[in-house]
Amino acid sequence: MSHRPWEESADFSIGLSPIDEARWLEGCEADPAARKDPLHAEHADLVWGEMQPSRPGQREAAALLGVSSFGDLPPLYAAARTVADDLVLVEKTDGLWRVSAISLSAPTFFTAREVLGKSLAEIHGPVTGFNDRFLARLVRIFDGLRPGLILQRRNWSVVNSDQPFTPFSAPVRARIGEIAPGDVGQALFTRVERQTVRRLPDTGGVLFTIRVWLTPFQALTESPERLAAFARAWRSAAPGFAAYKGFHLYAELVEAFLRAHGESHSVNGA
Ligand code: HEM
Repeated sequence: MSHRPWEESADFSIGLSPIDEARWLEGCEADPAARKDPLHAEHADLVWGEMQPSRPGQREAAALLGVSSFGDLPPLYAAARTVADDLVLVEKTDGLWRVSAISLSAPTFFTAREVLGKSLAEIHGPVTGFNDRFLARLVRIFDGLRPGLILQRRNWSVVNSDQPFTPFSAPVRARIGEIAPGDVGQALFTRVERQTVRRLPDTGGVLFTIRVWLTPFQALTESPERLAAFARAWRSAAPGFAAYKGFHLYAELVEAFLRAHGESHSVNGA
């Protein structure tokens, strides 16, 4: 499984493609509840939220994941405890697709309370150019998603944290200055989100899943081709994309790392 989406794109994109049901969620975490439960207990409004009428959709989402008894827990959270992924229920009310329930234990600089009840347009407002370039297409995809079809996409960024739970950017970015150029291989990470969408046929909503993969920069040096592909993406990233992701904050460190590993700078990446 490739978690190197920069090899495909260094700009914002929808990038959704169909996958088989057998490849829906990627697994590989022994006990997701051990990570999620303490966050749920300590930071409930950052990692969890539900609108009252969302329970039928939550139950249908949980059933898709094979979870049918919930104890005292909201069904979507009961289901989220069994998988590594975060789970977002998106339902159409008053003509707009909105987040109606969310379990968000690995946020990349956002919180459950910020997005609960918000429409796709409101959520993506901060993303440079999103509503002009992508919103209409995204709404068409949510409207037309056939039951049984599962779509996936990946996005990527660079962060100086190995923690999946990063609701706020400021405390992470405040520590960039502490990183010595020689330590970049261990101190910077590619942060990849693998996301999927699929229809809930009975209640009509969409289940959106988010799985975060964090990999230290050192892994980029596993082959010259891999490093070259990253260097190309980093140096050719679309300006709006790079600015939105704060790449300028990491520019000196990343360049130092690339040069130290033989990727000298050239404008065309050759
Ligand atoms: C398949 C449907 C979706 C697509 C194609 C999509 C696409 C995107 C894109 C292109 C970005 C810019 C960042 C990047 O690409 O790295 C973004 C950011 C984001 N998306 Fe989505 N998105 C989708 C659904 C959702 C849903 C359902 C949520 C609800 C939680 C969501 C929450 C966000 C947030 C919070 C951001 C960051 C916004 C900010 O900076 O404040 N997205 N999305």
